[in-house]
Amino acid sequence: MKKLRIIFFIIFFILLSFNLLAQSFDEMLNEAIKFYDEGKYRKAAELAEEAFKMGDPNMEHFYNTACCWALTGEKEKALQNLEKAIENGWLDVEWMQEDKDLEILQGDEQFKDLIAKLQKRIMKLEDNLPVVHEETAIIDLPKPNYDSNTSIEKALKKRRSIRNYSDESLTIEEISQILWSAYGVTLYKDGMPDFLRGGLKTAPSAGATYPLEIYVVASDVTDLPAGIYKYKPEGHKLIKISAENKREELYEASFGQDWVKDAPAALVYSAVFPRTTDRYRERGRERYVCMDLGHSAENVYLQCVSLKMGTVAIGAFDDLKLKLLINMTKGEEPLYIMPLGKLKESEEEK
Ligand SMILES: Cc1cc2nc3c(=O)[nH]c(=O)nc-3n(C[C@H](O)[C@H](O)[C@H](O)COP(=O)(O)O)c2cc1C
Repeated sequence: MKKLRIIFFIIFFILLSFNLLAQSFDEMLNEAIKFYDEGKYRKAAELAEEAFKMGDPNMEHFYNTACCWALTGEKEKALQNLEKAIENGWLDVEWMQEDKDLEILQGDEQFKDLIAKLQKRIMKLEDNLPVVHEETAIIDLPKPNYDSNTSIEKALKKRRSIRNYSDESLTIEEISQILWSAYGVTLYKDGMPDFLRGGLKTAPSAGATYPLEIYVVASDVTDLPAGIYKYKPEGHKLIKISAENKREELYEASFGQDWVKDAPAALVYSAVFPRTTDRYRERGRERYVCMDLGHSAENVYLQCVSLKMGTVAIGAFDDLKLKLLINMTKGEEPLYIMPLGKLKESEEEK
């Protein structure tokens, strides 16, 4: 008994000291960010590298440290940190090329080599994306409701971006309703062309070209196992893409927006641009596809009001990471993440 107690205390103190170390790692990095904000770049970089010895730095920590060194003119140290950022999964090559903090490096041969290496890696990753999604595991969604007690005026008045959700699970009925509002078929007549993919929908679309694809990233939905699903408006179905819970990865792809981590499910929108640009060329790319997206996303916002749910349209994320985690097909470009959750009681009253 005594021995057990000693072991217990040893384990307790080991855990405690790890926790303390982890805390000071975070604290030091927060301090480094403050130095960065105050323009004290050398101090920020030195403190960050000191912190790295005590914790487990990720790609963003290395990247930010590279920025600080670059801003002090220390090219070598900046490049070393960039290499570590890449080793740890950094893939945002465009950001690296445009980031004003890295200006001093952008003409440098070593920097260009790093960019070339990264571009090669990205091409390889994109090459592994599928051309089409196999439609093997199909789930029929419950029939949506076409009526509710929420007037359209009330939904418009109450619509807000919500970033705070209750702990409640969602249900497959709620997911079904949300997907129907986003892109569900509302009119089909014999003889309608195949490119409509099921018929005319809840959202308007330029030339009825319907460029959007919608995925559900489910992590806590009753009667829908955690995983990734693609919505098929024709027949109101889901195709299973993955059986893994990707909530954490989605959160990381959204640059750590907490509401993505807290939501029991999220929609991810992508577009197959050629569906629209083949007909409308540049006007399709610059205007129509994103106009289509806005129509559909607004439907989701309004439907959320009537279901006492919350969502927010998220445009800030790492495109490539999102593409890879969803396993989008080769021609798709990601456009929005919309986390979904039940409202907290305090939000319902507003
Ligand atoms: C194109 C677009 C991109 C957005 N990106 C984000 C985002 O990345 N993260 C976020 O929390 N909110 C995002 N929003 C939500 C806006 O911040 C929000 O709509 C705005 O503050 C107005 O608030 P409201 O929607 O409650 O009226 C985005 C909205 C739009 C239209």
